[in-house]
Amino acid sequence: MKAAVVGLGTMGPGLAATLARGGMEVRAFDVSADQREKAPGLMQQAMGVLGALSVPDKSGGKMPAVVQTLADCCKGADLVVETVPEKLDIKAAVFKEIDAAVGKNCVIASNTSGIPITKLQANVSNPGRVVGMHWSNPAHVIPMIEVIAGKDTSPDTVKWMCDTIKSLGLLPVVVRKDVPGFVENRILYALLRECVDLVEQDVIDAEGLDTCVSWGIGYKLSVIGPMALLDMAGLDIYQAVGSYLNKDLCNRADVAKYVTDRTQSGKLGMKTGGGIFSYTPEQVNELRMKRAKKLVAVRKALES
Ligand SMILES: NC(=O)c1ccc[n+]([C@@H]2O[C@H](COP(=O)([O-])OP(=O)(O)OC[C@H]3O[C@@H](n4cnc5c(N)ncnc54)[C@H](O)[C@@H]3O)[C@@H](O)[C@H]2O)c1
Repeated sequence: MKAAVVGLGTMGPGLAATLARGGMEVRAFDVSADQREKAPGLMQQAMGVLGALSVPDKSGGKMPAVVQTLADCCKGADLVVETVPEKLDIKAAVFKEIDAAVGKNCVIASNTSGIPITKLQANVSNPGRVVGMHWSNPAHVIPMIEVIAGKDTSPDTVKWMCDTIKSLGLLPVVVRKDVPGFVENRILYALLRECVDLVEQDVIDAEGLDTCVSWGIGYKLSVIGPMALLDMAGLDIYQAVGSYLNKDLCNRADVAKYVTDRTQSGKLGMKTGGGIFSYTPEQVNELRMKRAKKLVAVRKALES
């Protein structure tokens, strides 16, 4: 199968390496010459991690080819994965370019985190072949991929995408309605809203909050999903606790001052040396490596 990856920022290189390792012939493109130059090294790193994860290597030693134009990237592709910035005008323009470059049977997938697939479909001649393929970051480490049908996506396209993801040894989950944020981000953002609120209200400090979530519910949820957890705890318990607690949970519609104060003063997190916590450049590198290693070990444990 021939695959094209359009966009080589945070997500593109890991995603392209995963497709290549699964045996696809991959071409990749980014408008930025800088990103095109960096991409092969990042793909090589991702291949190393896929090796550490014991993902079968069907690439025959062939890395994705980084090419100079979008048309060259997409020509003859069976699958195009768009992973350009999360802005509708950029994605709409890229979808039009992709549409002009591919044959009518090519599946055009978007890695959008939440732009409705239905809006992207408006930019192509064969909307039935457009589908959401939402990877998690880091794309080469997290095995779950959301498959989202837009209004005009054909059931055959959804099935084809699920089969393709399974053939890579990964886990497709079908999102049946094109709701904002799909499923993963709706759950993540519900969790983050409550976490930020608890820290802002000084119920707990930021370190304590992370320990509570990672070693409490986070650890547990990676083995027992929320719906299975409800059965394990007992639905009567959920009903009893939910009947008083749900009323008390944070339900604000805006973003907390705790966050906006920091974004306004340029405290954006690891990329600026500090956000909620502070980081030296050495600590940033060390943390990235440590976390990647732990994610590999946890995935292996969960697969065993
Ligand atoms: N970063 C994440 O954690 C994450 C997770 C899941 C999904 N996503 C989604 O994946 C997509 C990409 O996110 P990212 O974090 O990799 O963004 P990014 O900004 O790091 O990378 C996007 C890349 O697209 C390139 N680009 C811009 N216009 C282009 C064009 N016309 N043609 C080709 N390339 C172009 C940019 O030069 C850039 O390198 C977004 O839709 C995002 O919501 C991101």
